[in-house]
Amino acid sequence: MHNLAHVLANSSSPDALQKVISVTTDTCIDICKALHKGSLAGILGVAGNENVQGEEQKKLDIISNNMLKNALLNCSDVRAIASEEEDDIVPANTQGQYLIAFDPLDGSSNIDINAMVGTIFSIYHDVGEQAATEQSFLKPGIEQVAAGYVLYGPSCMLVLSTGQGTQMFTLDPEKNEFVLTQSKVEVAADTQEFAINMSNQRFWSAATQTYVSDLVAGATGTREKDFNMRWVAAMVGDVHRILCRGGIFIYPWDSKTPNRAGKLRLMYEANPMAMLIEQAGGKAHTHTQRILDIQPEGIHQRVAVILGAANEVDKCLSY
Ligand code: F6P
Repeated sequence: MHNLAHVLANSSSPDALQKVISVTTDTCIDICKALHKGSLAGILGVAGNENVQGEEQKKLDIISNNMLKNALLNCSDVRAIASEEEDDIVPANTQGQYLIAFDPLDGSSNIDINAMVGTIFSIYHDVGEQAATEQSFLKPGIEQVAAGYVLYGPSCMLVLSTGQGTQMFTLDPEKNEFVLTQSKVEVAADTQEFAINMSNQRFWSAATQTYVSDLVAGATGTREKDFNMRWVAAMVGDVHRILCRGGIFIYPWDSKTPNRAGKLRLMYEANPMAMLIEQAGGKAHTHTQRILDIQPEGIHQRVAVILGAANEVDKCLSY
């Protein structure tokens, strides 16, 4: 059983990229420990509240953001960071060669019910004589040199791609390191499982409504097979299920917020997940284009997301 350091050392990733990945994933191990302490650590609750000691209580997503931010800004190979929890990018070291965009705690509404959450990250290569700016981050997802997430579930898992497939690692809590547990993840092209927030049904486009009602009609409808439905309410959990046993995940455009393209963030959620899914043989699209080809217009841009089993994504797009 190989640990993450061994796997990275035997990959074609440059040393500096290996270091950036290690700093990120080591910090995620610390986040995992903070999460496992839960209420014991006095860190659950709403930011701005005071705990019994009269100290300010911080939400775990703010704590996770600060942990990643501090660790990455102190890494000489990091040029700048962008976080879902920060309004603007934060430049680190001008000489650094890597930009990292991250969602420190995806699905944070699951924290209060002790359900799955995770950290998602996306890494780009970037060099320049001046400090990085927001513009430096506006690269299409196809240029990611690495992407991954750490899932804080019953066991803590790292799912990573450096462009040579998608690999899964499991945290060995005694050794405090991630160990390779699946070296080649593959998403089957067909599926009978879908994930969508059905409570938004009345706000979807006519095409999304028809597609999902055909799934729900199952063997009695045009699809002539039954489908099962699952919804973790944390993208990291839903994507993990798809990487483990297949399926399709959809967060479509809806008329509840008609001026936004979708709910999920391109740079912190859609792009890294699209890389992991494509590297495992699946597909990741918006309603109109491949996610990894989108030219970002801003770091907090949102997109519609349809990803997972290749044939099922095609079927959905055909509507
Ligand atoms: O963007 C945050 C997020 O929590 C995703 O991880 C998840 O897929 C989605 O929002 C859940 O949305 P909803 O509130 O519609 O269930």
